[in-house]
Amino acid sequence: MNKEIGNLIEKFDLASLIALQNKPAPFTPGEPLFWNDPHISAQMLKAHLDPNSDLASRRPETIDAMVAWIAAEVGLAPGDAVLDLGCGPGLYATRLAQRGMTVTGVDYSRRSIDYAQAAAQTAGLAITYRYENYLELTDENCYDLALLIYGDYCPLSPEQRTRLLANIRRALRPGGYFVFDVSTRTLREKYGVKTTGMQPKAVSGVPGLIWYWKWALIIRKKPSISTNIL
Ligand SMILES: C[S@@+](CC[C@H](N)C(=O)[O-])C[C@H]1O[C@@H](n2cnc3c(N)ncnc32)[C@H](O)[C@@H]1O
Repeated sequence: MNKEIGNLIEKFDLASLIALQNKPAPFTPGEPLFWNDPHISAQMLKAHLDPNSDLASRRPETIDAMVAWIAAEVGLAPGDAVLDLGCGPGLYATRLAQRGMTVTGVDYSRRSIDYAQAAAQTAGLAITYRYENYLELTDENCYDLALLIYGDYCPLSPEQRTRLLANIRRALRPGGYFVFDVSTRTLREKYGVKTTGMQPKAVSGVPGLIWYWKWALIIRKKPSISTNIL
C-alpha cells in the first residue's frame, strides 16, 4: 500500500468504516442514543406525523381503526388506565385519552415526548408523558392495558424481551391486557411483505381494520392468559 493511501486510511478511519459494512449478528446492541440522535429523531418525527406514510407510525385512518379495535377487543371503559410503550408523538395516546382513558405514554425520544406533551396541552388532554427507557420501567400494578405498537417487540433481543415482559407484567393490574403487534414468517410468506412493503390490506373479518402484515397479540395477565390472533 502506498503511503498516501495509508495516510487516507488512517485519516478517515476507513478500517472502521469498512467494518461497519459487515452485517452484524442478530440482536447485536446498536447505538444507545439512536432514538435521540438529532437528525434521526427529527426525521422520525416527520415520518410519524406524515398522514400519507406508514413509516414510523401508521396512517391516521389506520390508527383510528386500530384504537377502535383494541378498545372493543379488551373492553376498555372510560377511566381505564392505559400505558403506551414507545408512544412516539402520542398518536395512540391522544385517541385513547379522547375516549376517556387515563393514559401514560413512555418514550426514549426526547423530541417525540416534547411534541406529545405540547400536543396534549393544546388539545386540553391530561396525558402523562415520560421520557424513559421502557426496559427500565418500574411501574407496579396500575394499568388495565399496555400497548407496544409498530412491531417494536421484534427487534428486541431475547434478554430484552424477557425484561420488558417482566416490566409489563409488573405494571399491569390483575386481568390487565398487553397488546402488541408482530410480523411473522408465515405472514411474510403469505403476503410477500418484502415485495409489497407497506401496502395496506385488510387481513381479517374485522370490519374497517387494516393491519400491515402484522398479527395483533393480546395477552391477559392472570387470572386467565389467552392469545387472540387477528
Ligand atoms: C416505530 S416508533 C412507533 C411509535 C408509536 N408506537 C406509533 O406506532 O406511532 C418506535 C418508538 O419507540 C421508541 N422506543 C424505542 N426503544 C425504546 C425504549 N427502549 N424505551 C422507550 N421508547 C423506545 C422510539 O423512540 C420510537 O418513538
